[in-house]
Amino acid sequence: MKAQFMLAAMATAIVSAQYLNQTDPFALQLESSDADVDGTYLYACHAGAAIEGLCVGSTDTPSADNNSATFYHNYSTAWSMDDSPVGYLTWNLPFTGANGGVETASSPMVLTYNPVSNVAIPEMMPQSYGIATLFDSEGTLGIVSSSDDSSNNSTDRPVQEAEVLYSWYACYSFVGGYYYHALAWVTAGEPHNPSCVAVDVVRSFVQRINAVVRNVDLNRNIEVHQTQTLLEALQNRHPPVHAHVTEFWSSADNLKRETFVGIQHQTAGGTFPTLRLSTSVPKWHLATNPDVNPLKSMQVPAAFVLLMTPKYYAAAISKGLYDPANPRKFQKTINETDKLDKIVKDRIFRAEACHNNALESVGLYAAAVVAGNTAGIPMSTMNNLSVGYVASRTAYMVVYVWLQDNRRFAPLRGLFWGVGIALIWTMFIKAGLRV
Ligand SMILES: *[C@@H]1O[C@H](CO)[C@@H](O)[C@H](O)[C@H]1NC(C)=O
Ligand SMILES: *[C@@H]1O[C@H](CO)[C@@H](O)[C@H](O)[C@H]1NC(C)=O
Ligand SMILES: *[C@@H]1O[C@H](CO)[C@@H](O)[C@H](O)[C@H]1NC(C)=O
Ligand SMILES: *[C@@H]1O[C@H](CO)[C@@H](O)[C@H](O)[C@H]1NC(C)=O
Ligand SMILES: *[C@@H]1O[C@H](CO)[C@@H](O)[C@H](O)[C@H]1NC(C)=O
Ligand SMILES: *[C@@H]1O[C@H](CO)[C@@H](O)[C@H](O)[C@H]1NC(C)=O
Ligand SMILES: *[C@@H]1O[C@H](CO)[C@@H](O)[C@H](O)[C@H]1NC(C)=O
Repeated sequence: MKAQFMLAAMATAIVSAQYLNQTDPFALQLESSDADVDGTYLYACHAGAAIEGLCVGSTDTPSADNNSATFYHNYSTAWSMDDSPVGYLTWNLPFTGANGGVETASSPMVLTYNPVSNVAIPEMMPQSYGIATLFDSEGTLGIVSSSDDSSNNSTDRPVQEAEVLYSWYACYSFVGGYYYHALAWVTAGEPHNPSCVAVDVVRSFVQRINAVVRNVDLNRNIEVHQTQTLLEALQNRHPPVHAHVTEFWSSADNLKRETFVGIQHQTAGGTFPTLRLSTSVPKWHLATNPDVNPLKSMQVPAAFVLLMTPKYYAAAISKGLYDPANPRKFQKTINETDKLDKIVKDRIFRAEACHNNALESVGLYAAAVVAGNTAGIPMSTMNNLSVGYVASRTAYMVVYVWLQDNRRFAPLRGLFWGVGIALIWTMFIKAGLRV
């Protein structure tokens, strides 16, 4: 009895509770044995003034900026069933605010009933309450019912027990004043509307974009990481970019390598809503892959060119003793010849040794670059580390091959070798910290 009373109290509470915790945005996709609706996405369709239905769209993954296909789940920690929080399915209705900018109004889903039918129509409108819903561990949308009136006996009222129901259908129906192919809910029994086919409604989160945004005008790079909103990234710039942006999201399979984004700057007296994906305002350049920097993609090739330099140099100063057909015999030939003086011979030997040392180092370096790029180390950090590595290896080579004609320079070589290794390990450690 006590448990039943508590459930009843919770069911009442949902009417007055505030559901202000909100999930990340997601798209809603239908699963059905009916081929016409299986795999389609739902989108908010106009059903009246500030009222939207949930219409059956196409099977194409909605693009990140498609507001009508972007939904949220508002919940509170106060009520959950099987670890799934209960709350409202919400959609953000855009409207023009007082200052002329676009604002949004959170619109929870409710069910509207048709007196002649058991087919109820979900509608979303700006208000503070909706129907209790949850997404179960499979991401499937259910409605929470707190009592089932199908049973009654002479001793007791219907059992009051919270229960998750999945009675979704896709039907051709009036939604407000419009006739649509839309999501519907069948209260009990077989659908009264013969066009209805059973569906499941499954959510798929859109991803926070991991992007590099480059202001083409100012040529300033802004890196946005998974832990950061674009707005934070802009504000963390030095000097900060004063832009008022709504968060930018993208669905995974919809990421394009390069997309133009328009961001309007905040101006005195007015704010703008504003991250808009747009090809018409190519002011900001966005690429999902930080590899866009040409310097970065040249890092490894540059190291290989550097690696071969002492080898070619040794061959060049050997007065034709280098035999491309038998490179391994080169050392022995040099050792035995009397055509070269000792300084040149030693230099050739050091050039060979320098080349061998570079061979050992470059593999580790290439792996570090891959690790760093994969982990999403900021482009400028990677460039700096790489430039540092190539510079330290260049210095190492100069000391080893030329300066070491004089033995006193030997410690300097060790120093530059250490710098190169330290930079490689910096890449690995930074990559490790980000994963
Ligand atoms: C949903 O949560 C957001 C974020 O807290 C809030 O702004 C919005 O008003 C909530 N919507 C409803 C219907 O409670
Ligand atoms: C929900 O919101 C409350 C108040 O803002 C916060 O204390 C709580 O940690 C949030 N819970 C979750 C699961 O986000
Ligand atoms: C938004 O997504 C829905 C569902 O996939 C689709 O029907 C609609 O055409 C899209 N709208 C825009 C503007 O792309
Ligand atoms: C009537 O309902 C109560 C509550 O569910 C149940 O305990 C009882 O067994 C039922 N009686 C009969 C005769 O079905
Ligand atoms: C339904 O339950 C109520 C309360 O226990 C009881 O008074 C009534 O007779 C029941 N009706 C039927 C048809 O069983
Ligand atoms: C170079 O020649 C010397 C003597 O001619 C010999 O002792 C030495 O082992 C040779 N070194 C190489 C690398 O062939
Ligand atoms: C990379 O080097 C440039 C030029 O010295 C500097 O402005 C920038 O802050 C460095 N970036 C990082 C992440 O250290």
